[in-house]
Amino acid sequence: MLFSQQYQQLPTVDKQTGERDSFRKDTRKRGFCLRAIAIIAIMWASLTAARMFRSKGFWSACHGLQRNSSTLAQLPSHYTLPSGDKIPSVALGVWQASKGETALEVGYKHIDGAWIYRNEEEVGQALKESSVPREELWLTSKLWNTFHAPEDIEPALDQSLSMLGTDYLDLYLIHWPVAFKKEGSNILDENLTADPYPTWQKLEELVDKGKIRNIGISNFNIRRVQNLTANKLKYQPAVNQWSKENGLLLEAYSPLGSDKQVGQSLSVPEVKDVASKLGITPAQVLISWHVQRGTIVLPKSVTPSRILENLNVFELPQEDFEKLETAATSHPPQRVVNPSNGWKLPFDVFDGQ
Ligand code: A2P
Repeated sequence: MLFSQQYQQLPTVDKQTGERDSFRKDTRKRGFCLRAIAIIAIMWASLTAARMFRSKGFWSACHGLQRNSSTLAQLPSHYTLPSGDKIPSVALGVWQASKGETALEVGYKHIDGAWIYRNEEEVGQALKESSVPREELWLTSKLWNTFHAPEDIEPALDQSLSMLGTDYLDLYLIHWPVAFKKEGSNILDENLTADPYPTWQKLEELVDKGKIRNIGISNFNIRRVQNLTANKLKYQPAVNQWSKENGLLLEAYSPLGSDKQVGQSLSVPEVKDVASKLGITPAQVLISWHVQRGTIVLPKSVTPSRILENLNVFELPQEDFEKLETAATSHPPQRVVNPSNGWKLPFDVFDGQ
């Protein structure tokens, strides 16, 4: 369109003198050159934009969120599990989120959900509406405490699968090392809590059935991991959200300190210093630090701009990484999520009985 308009503005040909023929030839030549230059310019601009979007993410490329981050190296985008499957290192935790379209649009491939988040139907709807093929996505869900009895596991899994609109999960975790009885609320099933092996065996069966690709555990302390892995397992737990024992890949939920502590985490002086030095946000510093430590991170956000921001992780220069390590280990660990009291457990779920 642009070029045809230019042509229309040129003088018309005088057939009598022929003079304008040569003028027209010149004009054609010039027009041809202009087109070629314009096409090359458009191709160059598109390539540059594509490279920017790929390295910085769409949002930050558009909004210049990272000032200097283009000079920082990218961290591993995936880790390999014992099954050989590659799990994306940054996920969107969808606890408290109602929809996941934003995340899928901006390139998240790993969605960390759970039956108890009560939003698997909405997540499923977002997956259905997105154009990302199922095989490019990593879907995690978690078995809730009331379904640990072997006969209850498959129906619970089927319910999650149907709500998510898929016929397999990439990862299914035992959400807590705490089994509740079916009847009543939060009545402890002491046997299945003390020995989760029957639960695990059923999960292994479901791997063989093709409904789950990998199985793992969540919130298991070291003693509980050892208690489970002391059995002759057909499939070792692939990941543990929180514990790094036995070479299990660690998934860090609440990497920003969860709702109540996030403000505090983002204003740790060392975090702020590194952020302003590198021209990235404090949340990106924390998320990058987690990935650089070799953990999968599951930051949660319901805010589109933050969802986009959190997907961009960068390799921190060694001195900055060490500064954060020192800050993190200079005080006793502070646990931000512990439901033991709320569930009236006769023990602390993290410190053992
Ligand atoms: P919101 O969901 O309103 O965006 P965690 O992942 O550690 O559980 O933390 C979740 C909390 O951190 C939520 O309150 C979330 O708020 C907030 N949050 C997530 N990403 C960011 C970010 N990039 N900057 C500031 N706060 C964030």
